[in-house]
Amino acid sequence: AANTPQWRPDVHFTPHRNWMNDPNGLVYFRGEYHLFFQHNPEGIEHANLSWGHAVSTDLTNWQELPVALEPDELGEIFSGSAVVDHDDTSGFFGGHAGLVAFYTSAGETQQQSIAHSSDNGRTWTKYAGNPVIANPGLEDFRDPKVIRHEPTGRWVMMVAAGDRIVFYGSRDLVHWDQLSEFGVGHGAHGGVWECPDLFELPVDGDPKRRRWVLIVSTGSGGPAGGSAAQYFLGDFDGTTFTNDNPAEEVRWVDKGADFYAPQSWSNSPHGSRVWLGWMSNWNYAKQVPTHPWRGAMTMPREVGLTESGTGVRLSQRPVDELRRRRGRVRRWSGVVGRDEVPEFSGSVLDVVAEFRLDTADSFGFDAFAGRDQHTRIGYDVRAGELFVDRTESGRVRVAEGFPARHAVALEPEGTTVRLRILLDRCSVEVFGGAGSAVLTDLVFPEEEGDRLRPFATGGSAHLTSLEVFDLDRP
Ligand code: FRU
Repeated sequence: AANTPQWRPDVHFTPHRNWMNDPNGLVYFRGEYHLFFQHNPEGIEHANLSWGHAVSTDLTNWQELPVALEPDELGEIFSGSAVVDHDDTSGFFGGHAGLVAFYTSAGETQQQSIAHSSDNGRTWTKYAGNPVIANPGLEDFRDPKVIRHEPTGRWVMMVAAGDRIVFYGSRDLVHWDQLSEFGVGHGAHGGVWECPDLFELPVDGDPKRRRWVLIVSTGSGGPAGGSAAQYFLGDFDGTTFTNDNPAEEVRWVDKGADFYAPQSWSNSPHGSRVWLGWMSNWNYAKQVPTHPWRGAMTMPREVGLTESGTGVRLSQRPVDELRRRRGRVRRWSGVVGRDEVPEFSGSVLDVVAEFRLDTADSFGFDAFAGRDQHTRIGYDVRAGELFVDRTESGRVRVAEGFPARHAVALEPEGTTVRLRILLDRCSVEVFGGAGSAVLTDLVFPEEEGDRLRPFATGGSAHLTSLEVFDLDRP
């Protein structure tokens, strides 16, 4: 296949070449954010699953390093996590701190294995006694995520087991006992459960109002078709997760098509929870037309909880570090649908816009616009929803169902609708309002689809402020 440099993101991580899926082993240690990832070092297909590796000091400039973990006699290296063993509870580090990784050995069966590193993740030693959790007779048994639960003074591992998450506890990261299970009858089960995560967050920054957030990715049946991530709010006492909400309630993290298997950074100094996801969808991941790489990560995002009219919701926004990549800015305000509107060039943009409702029934931006192509990012006033429409976004014959419109409910704040939009050559990430409405979508504009234009339909909308920042290359 021909190379497609026009779709290579500038600010989103992609491997130099070959296949990538889920983020793995996200951990901060000694000044570096580590990003391991599901990777085929030998080809652009989903095969030879290994852990690729990249590091960053600022979450936006990534340096790819040699492959960290390769398949062995127990199988391929599927998804998992990593922690800093500060107090050498494992005994792997001679009393010092080191990194321990947890992954699924995917061979004849799926089992949980570990590896450790004493050189800041550059080289890894697989534990001789792997697997540390043998397969209990399940077809799907994978994606170990380990967290430290301070109140009980132990490590907790979550494993995705088909229709549930199984919780294990350990004092030394090597010996694991089952604690509990969660999930049967709860949330969305359109596909097998994968890639759990669990963390505690304050509601609107109030340290006295904290909830636990359990993240579960679901292989199919997502809101935009195919794979998607859901979340549960509740309590976690170190042993059992209890859902705050009715079992049948389903809460999606992102209603676009391309946010999957998110994982948060362990040991992050950031002050808030930071995560990213794989920016693709199992419905068409293997047909994504980029070359010589296939697979991208989303922008790292700060995750929070916010009280909305309909209860507590997850919120997301791009990490502040991204501002350092902002270059030239263009500003405008005026009435779209009445004034002459400007057209902005650029395919790698950070757009901050505030609209005031008026007579228009929809408004927003056409991005990656050119002759016969555009990606419409807008607000539908009557439906009360934010949407991304990629039906005419350029190369749409990626797979059946790819050309589509994705939407998420968004209440105006009074009469104001705030949008933050990141565009990076082949992707759109839209954060509405305070960040509880999010859409992430891949798009593949044909050459010359590099314009951004405000639009309004059925009347006019006041664009009270608009900043269009270029995001610069490193
Ligand atoms: C999620 C997933 C995981 C698995 C990995 C294999 O996208 O299916 O459950 O560990 O990808 O690459």
